[in-house]
Formats: sequence, C-alpha cells, structure tokens
Amino acid sequence: MKYAHIIGWGKYLPQRVLTNQEISKTVDTTHEWIVARTGIHERRIAGTRETTATLAFEAAARALFVAGLHPSDVELIIVATSTPESIFPATACQVQDYLGATRAGAFDLSAACSGFVYALSMASNAITSGAAQNAVVIGAETMSRVLDWQDRGTCILFGDGAGAVVLEGSSIPGGVLASTLRSDGSGGDLLRLPAVYHNPVPILGGEFSQNGHHKNTISMKGRQVFRFATNVISDSVQDVLRDAQLSIDDVDLIIPHQANVRIIETAAKRLKLPVERFFINVARTGNTSAASIPIALCDAVDAGLLHPDDNVVFVGFGGGLSWAASVVKWDVTPPDLSLPDREWGRVRYVLARGRSRLRQLGRHVASFVEGSPTPDARLRERIRPDGRGRTHGRGAKKR
Ligand code: UT7
Repeated sequence: MKYAHIIGWGKYLPQRVLTNQEISKTVDTTHEWIVARTGIHERRIAGTRETTATLAFEAAARALFVAGLHPSDVELIIVATSTPESIFPATACQVQDYLGATRAGAFDLSAACSGFVYALSMASNAITSGAAQNAVVIGAETMSRVLDWQDRGTCILFGDGAGAVVLEGSSIPGGVLASTLRSDGSGGDLLRLPAVYHNPVPILGGEFSQNGHHKNTISMKGRQVFRFATNVISDSVQDVLRDAQLSIDDVDLIIPHQANVRIIETAAKRLKLPVERFFINVARTGNTSAASIPIALCDAVDAGLLHPDDNVVFVGFGGGLSWAASVVKWDVTPPDLSLPDREWGRVRYVLARGRSRLRQLGRHVASFVEGSPTPDARLRERIRPDGRGRTHGRGAKKR
C-alpha cells in the first residue's frame, strides 16, 4: 500500500502590490468598503514579462528545492489554473520545459478555485495506484488579466500568484488521507469566465458564425456565490473527515480557499470552530483562485503553524460550481534552507532553458535538412496527374 506524502512546498507572488486605495482611484469604491466586506487590503499583479507559466515555474522550483527532488526525477506535473496563457500547449507542459523535468507527464486541470484540491486528489491517486512515484501539483493564476477593471464587484477581489507542493509515494502511513470532490453545473452562471475561441467559420457562411458576443472577463453573482461558499465549506469538511474516519476535534488547521474573510468566519460558525483554526492570508494576496490554498499553505508553514503529525484540511470552492476538500497528515519538518543553496538550485534551470533552446534548434535543422516527410518523387508516383486519387496502395482505383 502506498501513501502520497507532501514533501515540498513553494510559492511565488509577483513584486507589484496593488492597494485598495489605488483601485479606488479608478472605480467607485473605498478601502474601507473593501476591507469591511472582504478583508482584502492588497493583491499582487503579474509584470508584463510574467505569465501563469512563469509564476507556476517559480513556485514549483521552490517546492522541488524544499523536497530535495531533482527535476529530472519528476514523473507528473499538474497545473490547476483558469488563466492559462494558451488552451494548448498546457501551462503544465511549459512548466515541464522550464524545469527540465524530462521524464514528466504534464497536464492542466480546470476546476476554478477548487482546482488545487482537485489536482492534489488526482496526483495522490496516481501515486497510491502506483502509476507515478511522485508529482508536482501547482495552482497558478494571472487573474488580473481576466478582470473587467470597471466592474467594482469583481476587480477588487482577485490577485495573481502561484503555489506548489511536491508529493511522493511511501509505504509509511500518512500524507493525503482522503479527498472529496463535488460539483453542481446548474450554478455555472454564477461565476463565469468565457473562453477565447469564439471565431466564426467563414467558409460555411453566417449560419456557422458564433453565438453572440462573449466578454473574456469574469462575471459573478456575488451574493449567491457567497451563500454557496459558506454552505459547501462546512459540508465538505465534514464529508472528508468522515471519509478519513476523523472527527473535527482531530483537525489542527483548516486551510480554505482565500476568497473573503466573511465567508471563512461564517463557515467557522457553522462548524462550531474558533476562526483561529482557519488559516487566513487573503488580506495581502486577494483571491488568487486555484493558487490560494498552496500559497496559504506556504504562509502557514512559514508562520510555524504546522507540526509533524498535524491533520490539515484543504477546502476549495468556486466556479463550476465546484468544491472539494482533502485531509492531509502533515509529516515533515521544514528543512533549514540557506540562501546560497537556493541560488545554486537555480543554475539547473538556466541549463534547462539552454537544453530547451537546443531541442528547438535541433527541430529546425531536422526540418530543413530532411525536408518534407513525404518526398516529392514518392508523392508524384502516388497521386495521378489529374489529382483525382492514388494509383496504388489502399484506396487506389484499379486501372
Ligand atoms: O473564489 C470564489 C469566488 N468568489 C467569491 O467567493 C466571492 C463571493 N462574494 C463576495 O465575496 C461578496 O458577495 C462581495 C464581496 C463580492 C460583495 O459583497 P456583498 O456584501 O455581497 O455586497 P453586495 O453584492 O450585496 O452589494 C451591496 C452593495 C451594492 O449596492 P446597493 O445595490 O446596495 O446600492 C453594490 O452595488 O455594495 C455595492 N458594491 C460596492 N460598493 C463599493 C459592490 N461592490 C462594491 C465595491 N465598492 N467594490
């Protein structure tokens, strides 16, 4: 029997801080209103050279360093995100390349703010089933790029960032003890981010032009999402504890998705727990969607709140509607990592970039030297001069 243990963690937040006061200069809101209704004071905004993939890479590299795992030994990379730079290639494949994780499978997972917990569950299942020995699970978002900065109901809430954990299989009991994943698509309209591919098909005429105008920004029915969130936090914490055969008294720390302090306070009341049992860092990060739980985990570790043998519950909720919880036996002591070691750790990623460039160059050269995979002469032999079909092989007409 294998268990999936968390052995590394890391986060990355962009440098640029955007305060409530700055936002209040462009939309009709105030710092006081935002703090009173959400608990948010500021959030981070990705720089022009940063993407969801670069944020994810930074978090993953730190997590691998803590884990003491070489990128070339990584077997699986999952990036939970709603803000990939492209539908494909997957952000996870970009991260694989930046890390030089040459043996890793990589894919993105879309479950909005529940994405990290979904991804943790998938990775844990891959390890316990024996399909992978380890996995890097990342939540990464550039929410600032999908906000309508004129909509005061949403633009005050979100921020950019990434967090990651490394999971490794072991025969020692512990690690991810149980997960519950849930969804309710009937509430899909409460929180939406339309995709980018709404191009018409001109050769088929107007009938196939797409269905109306889609704004590529988040829209949200805040009050209804608030009500949904407070219900599902308490339900899913209770469900996952039942699955793990634990009681609420066994839980040392709950790390919820960081959307709004009032949501967390209401959920704490429903669970009859002191709010101190919940880790909260939304004041400085805003809502970073799929990245919020792993970022909060790193902050909780830095604050010395997690000790070996603690039971920690992650609970996510958001668009879909979707919600999910995992209970994890925390069984590591943070290693003492000195700065020079960290800097040394980066060298391998410079090498990985060089390796990636060489592979790209190799493909260009191969394509130039070898030419078309179907050489002209063979093509001429197979296709009749009138272009009507093949002269031999499967599907050829008899002469
Ligand atoms: O990741 C998961 C996804 N999202 C969430 O978890 C968010 C869940 N929802 C919320 O956190 C809250 O609903 C919000 C913070 C978005 C809004 O707080 P609320 O207490 O639910 O406010 P409300 O939507 O009921 O609006 C109350 C009033 C309205 O004015 P009227 O109609 O009463 O005159 C809004 O127009 O507040 C107004 N309002 C604002 N006023 C100042 C809405 N946004 C703002 C704002 N500044 N930024």
